[in-house]
Amino acid sequence: MSTKPIGIFDSGAGGLSIWKEISELLPYESTLYISDAKYAPYGTKGKKAILKRSIINTEILLNKGAKIVVVACNTATTNAISFLREKYDVPFIGIEPAIKPAALNTKTNCIGILATQGTLSSALFHETSQLYTKDLNVIEQVGNGIVELIEAGALFSIEMEQLLKSYLSPMLDANMDCLVLGCTHYHFLKPILEKILPKNIKIIDSGPAVAKQTKAILQKHNLLVESPKKGEHAFYTNGSKEVISSLMNWDKATIHKLD
Ligand code: DGL
Repeated sequence: MSTKPIGIFDSGAGGLSIWKEISELLPYESTLYISDAKYAPYGTKGKKAILKRSIINTEILLNKGAKIVVVACNTATTNAISFLREKYDVPFIGIEPAIKPAALNTKTNCIGILATQGTLSSALFHETSQLYTKDLNVIEQVGNGIVELIEAGALFSIEMEQLLKSYLSPMLDANMDCLVLGCTHYHFLKPILEKILPKNIKIIDSGPAVAKQTKAILQKHNLLVESPKKGEHAFYTNGSKEVISSLMNWDKATIHKLD
């Protein structure tokens, strides 16, 4: 057992959707969260730059005592997790677009995947996609501009709604019935998506699965905290504290500045 915190990072506030699932499933665990918003978006960067940011974030978390690292970013996972696993001794948990559950659930044989350029062009995404979607019509769409709007505090804006409508319209024309949210930031789009999508469309998010996997890996390595005392949480950002506090409804004072 270990009382050390779980380290979590993302290019911004998106990974807080994963943090929420983890803190609900494992209330006694402490966490450290890094929002690397100064360098967001990762999705338009090349593999080398994504790798560099992932190493920097991992080292900050390890220096602060993390016992495990959750890469709460599809783009960083698909481009950097195998390297991180080789380089560092702690266990890593990643997140990838939930293609398998979508493939198992679709009745129209058509699924939509909304993700970043960095995720959709990665080798790991292609491998998983080929494994599960052989007989399906898969419509991939790069969510250009979505992360930028969220990080600029414009989640609920007309611009966002228009952007989403334009990205989803080819999927709807093709009769998709499952939409995979392949970026942790997109979790926060759910209220807008529920408004603009027909009711029969299933929105698939990987957050709960990542939390379960985090628990399983902590158990496997005998790293779960033992005492039934509420965990402590620390949030760091090199970007805007306001974006995090308004997305999560938190007091700004609970968020620390990261250089
Ligand atoms: N939350 C990241 C992901 O899951 C966002 C990527 C970005 O910064 O473009 O992919």
